[in-house]
Amino acid sequence: MQTLYSPSITVMGSGYVGLVTGLCFAEKGFNVTCIDTDFHKIDLINRKNSPFFEEGVTELIDKHLNKRFFATTELHHSILMSDITFIAVGTPFDGEKIDLSYIKQACSDVASVIKNKNTYHLIAIKSTVIPGTTDDVIRPIIERQSQKKVGQDFGLCSNPEFLREGQAIHDCLHPDRIVVGGTDEKSIDLLCSIYRPFAQTHMIKTNNKTAEFIKYASNSFFATLISFANQIANICSSVNNVDVMDVIRGVLLDKRLSISTEKGLVQPEFTHYVKPGCGFGGGCFPKDIRALVSYAREKQVSTDLLDGVLRINDLQPLRMIADLKKFYPELNGIKIGILGLAFKPDTDDVRCSPTLIALKALASENASLYVYDPIVRTLHDFHDSQIRYVENLESLIDAVEVILIFTAWNEFKKLPDILKHKNKKPLVIDGRRMLDKKDIGRYHGIGIGPALHESHESVLLR
Ligand code: UGA
Repeated sequence: MQTLYSPSITVMGSGYVGLVTGLCFAEKGFNVTCIDTDFHKIDLINRKNSPFFEEGVTELIDKHLNKRFFATTELHHSILMSDITFIAVGTPFDGEKIDLSYIKQACSDVASVIKNKNTYHLIAIKSTVIPGTTDDVIRPIIERQSQKKVGQDFGLCSNPEFLREGQAIHDCLHPDRIVVGGTDEKSIDLLCSIYRPFAQTHMIKTNNKTAEFIKYASNSFFATLISFANQIANICSSVNNVDVMDVIRGVLLDKRLSISTEKGLVQPEFTHYVKPGCGFGGGCFPKDIRALVSYAREKQVSTDLLDGVLRINDLQPLRMIADLKKFYPELNGIKIGILGLAFKPDTDDVRCSPTLIALKALASENASLYVYDPIVRTLHDFHDSQIRYVENLESLIDAVEVILIFTAWNEFKKLPDILKHKNKKPLVIDGRRMLDKKDIGRYHGIGIGPALHESHESVLLR
């Protein structure tokens, strides 16, 4: 769909957020140029490859490249010729607080171009930044560097994104909300007009700080729900004949969470999203919650709840090992199969993956580790002679006596069928509760109380 006034867009940063955003705007009819300092990444895109594994990205590159989507390392001319620049560079956590060096550099680069531009330019911050960053850090950098005034010569907006890896294109094309913060009416109105092709979406117009806050509160909310489910699971694990899945199912049927209609039960998506497991990872939840905690501390506000969310999550991958030790108290030399390296299915992202924490702990106990992930074939930054990367699920099953599932890849659902055809009954510890315990001879899932799995073991012994 083409808008009446179709401004030209540049996106600084061609990672998950930047590239997906750029491609989705191109899909909606805009002319978009994605800029990145990484020549290798831009080269890949220009050869019609995605720099990361994400469904739909290659197809959109193929569809729009050099028609209304362009990728380049050239910054000056691209920004000069555009009307709007989205900033979508990384904002990592440096161990103590959010690292703003990339975003400061990107904004300074944009400012040095708009210094020589005669027309109004809008800058929209997509990167996740703590409340106040756009007004108190970014704005002074741009005003100083460009020698121009916000609200007059250029506009400045905060426009956080809410896409999930693995469903990034879908989330971006069908957003559940669009949050537009801004320093003034003109910039907010202009940014809202860009989103006209997403007309069905709920739009929140607010100030920059509130927009920035919505993003952090949103990620913290879901991370809190996950740690809540995990803490309940951990308690269930020590209660005879209780399975956390039954407990959570009972909770979610509350009419405040699920609505009974004549056509049946309507359950919001989050009731399917929140599942007990071996913990959350990725480039967002762990870093964003730590950044929010550090921000609150600066303001002398206590963060007991979020501290707990992080603490539960840091320990959760190790629950898998604690559960394993109930069956194998001594891990030295035990052949253990690890299923899943990515922090979640349908992505090749291993940042803060719970698997990494468990691998380190298992390697330190001299277990023999066999690892399989359908997409991530090896860990470049993790070298250990005890780790063997196997080519497929069958080879892993053949090699091991225990299997630990860390990522809910669809392919792993084949496990019960493959096991049925083998004369082997490895113990399966399901860290994502993705398999039905009835389908596996020796099954243990996170959050299952002792008597239940004992009965499984006794079934085996009969
Ligand atoms: C998250 C948010 O869901 C997005 O709304 C947000 O835009 C994004 O961060 C971001 O800030 O950019 P993402 O990290 O891609 O998205 O993935 P999620 O699907 O939310 O999963 C995060 C982690 O939680 C994964 O490790 C997943 O396995 C884990 N998880 C999720 C659980 O451990 N249990 C659950 O019940 C659900």
